[in-house]
Amino acid sequence: MTKNRISALLLLLFISFNTVAREGMWIPVLLDRNIAEMREMGFKLNTDDIYSVNNASMKDAIVLFGRGCTGELISPDGLLITNHHCGYGQIQAHSTVEYDYLTNGFWAMNRSEELPNEGLSVTFLVEMRDVSTEILTGTDSISDETLRIQKIRENTNSITEKAIKDTHYEATVKPFYEGNQYFLFITEKFTDVRLVGAPPSAIGKFGGDTDNWMWPRHTGDFSLFRIYADSTNKPAGYSPDNVPYQPKRYFPINISGIEKNDFTMVFGYPGTTQQYLYSDAVRQVVEQRDPDRIAIRDVKLFTMRSAMKADRATRIKYAAKYASTSNAWKKWQGEIKGLKRLNAVNVKLEEEKAFAKWVNTTPVRQEKYGDILPTFEKKYNEIASVQKAKDYYDEIIFRGTDAYRMYYQLKQFIGQKEKTDDIDFIEKHFKDYKTEVDLNIFVSLIKMLYSDIAIDKLAPSLLEISEKNNPKKQLEKLYSKSIINSKENLMDLLSKNDIDRIKKKIEKDKLYRFFDETRSYYFDSLYANYNNVQKEIDNNYKTYVKALLEMNENEMLFPDANLTMRVTYGKVEGYEPADGVEYRHYTTLDGIIEKDNPEIYDYNVPEKLKQLHREQNFGNYANHKGELPVCFTASNHTTGGNSGSPVINSEGHLIGINFDRCWEGTMSDIMFDPEKCRNISLDMRYMLFLVDKFAGASYLLDEMEIVR
Ligand code: ARG
Ligand code: GLU
Repeated sequence: MTKNRISALLLLLFISFNTVAREGMWIPVLLDRNIAEMREMGFKLNTDDIYSVNNASMKDAIVLFGRGCTGELISPDGLLITNHHCGYGQIQAHSTVEYDYLTNGFWAMNRSEELPNEGLSVTFLVEMRDVSTEILTGTDSISDETLRIQKIRENTNSITEKAIKDTHYEATVKPFYEGNQYFLFITEKFTDVRLVGAPPSAIGKFGGDTDNWMWPRHTGDFSLFRIYADSTNKPAGYSPDNVPYQPKRYFPINISGIEKNDFTMVFGYPGTTQQYLYSDAVRQVVEQRDPDRIAIRDVKLFTMRSAMKADRATRIKYAAKYASTSNAWKKWQGEIKGLKRLNAVNVKLEEEKAFAKWVNTTPVRQEKYGDILPTFEKKYNEIASVQKAKDYYDEIIFRGTDAYRMYYQLKQFIGQKEKTDDIDFIEKHFKDYKTEVDLNIFVSLIKMLYSDIAIDKLAPSLLEISEKNNPKKQLEKLYSKSIINSKENLMDLLSKNDIDRIKKKIEKDKLYRFFDETRSYYFDSLYANYNNVQKEIDNNYKTYVKALLEMNENEMLFPDANLTMRVTYGKVEGYEPADGVEYRHYTTLDGIIEKDNPEIYDYNVPEKLKQLHREQNFGNYANHKGELPVCFTASNHTTGGNSGSPVINSEGHLIGINFDRCWEGTMSDIMFDPEKCRNISLDMRYMLFLVDKFAGASYLLDEMEIVR
């Protein structure tokens, strides 16, 4: 890059940084360098209000919901709000054709009607602290990567053990800046979490997969839960004797209005970003990885969709599976577009040139950092074809079919030393299963696997099938004859007492063996290869990010998201998706009525909602123009995991719940564009309107603190 172009680029960065969004997901205990900017943008509180060890702070009102969403407390009685799509698995699990909460919604009309959820947990952060020194002691001198990782693990174990001794807490240590910094997290986990309310899918999932990742948006994406604790306010397994948890903090809900340019902050659990990705890795995402994964899911989604259209029971069975399969599938499509539009590969190449130049200015740097770029170049080259195969196995074998999931549960079952009688997993599995659907997915995906992947990366089990005369027929036979796919036979077999006999019978099953052999090949051969190279790549990133931090010591570089609590801030604002088009920052109920179309499943507006609209019966929840606000966009840097995160105003009140990103900005996991990246949130006024006017559950409002 010429000097002029560098300064033009820097100028551009500088301008955008001052006028619009602020890229970054910041560590809540390290906001000292951000707070001035936050206050300049309108924030009225201090870092202590966000995170404090000694006093109750916002972080005490926020939980990791399940394994990958965020939730927050909105009452002193443990009432919690998250997205509808985060509670979807639970709502679906309670649904049958007779009690179809997905379609009709669910509202507990008093506490005794709240529904417990096996397997669901919420996790609070008690404390976090920098433990880099303790973790890294004695690791610098170890040159062997495996030994170094082992030493880190040892240090981690001794720190976490000490941290939670004599408590009921849990502890983990997580790397930041690709392993240049480490934090200890002490957490408290509650497992008695009950479903309190959810709107019908026609509201909570309004627009469905058609509108997913898109603006303008009209989804009432929320559900309500309540955390229960024992009589001393400590976590306890489900018991009718448990009482509502009394949190240290909860969020007041502000309904006084949201204006363009208002300060907003999102505080939650972003999952993964890859800001420091090397150029060739970005190229692989755009040219190979995203297209591969999209093509595989195309096939799977098509099969599910056809079956779901034909039959209502199938639609319920596959609703959650369809939603989760289509979500990333659609995001990857937006990501490819965004990365291409930003010319991301070239931007990375230019950044790497600037980096090389910086390295080459002193011999010391050359010595320390001179190998970084050539190593990336070499290793990414080496990994490309293994990466392709790995993506195929991941999508097709490990995430592809229900049959594989059952295979894996059976493998664990027969691996038990003492036979347990717990075979509930069979019932659960088959509740959401339909043979034809899964069989079709199995046959078409396995065919893709052996057709698209180079022979030297095919498991012998796959090779064997591909060489048969009529592979399709073979696959059908393999599937249909297997005990894995027969509920009755499995129930029968697994309730026998003789574990050895069960084991023998299962291990003789041909589909079981097919999965087992494919899996062994994957881990012993393919993944082992991949992992060796990946370890070297990871280690190289560690040095790279260390160097980048040194090179940019006057700037603030944020660590990639890693499913730990982060703060991101920005403003309420719309954007320009394309030349000549401007998007306003909010939507209203009018837009729902505009989209109404009973013929289209995603846009079938419930009659009651139409009636409330006709009567303009909006209570206190309308804006000053008399419209009922539904969703809004802002420039907060968010990612998957931020779903359900509180969107907080300048006074620390809840004004929205984050649930999505705009289509034009989905590449922000790899490259953020302040002009186009917007998060999408549900306006709290729409939530209150629905609970109050639509559901008639206004008793729930009594325990909330509503600021007007
Ligand atoms: N895109 C949002 C997220 O990443 C919402 C997903 C759920 N909605 C859906 N239609 N699949 O989680
Ligand atoms: N819907 C996403 C989630 O489940 C949040 C959207 C995003 O990826 O930004 O976390």
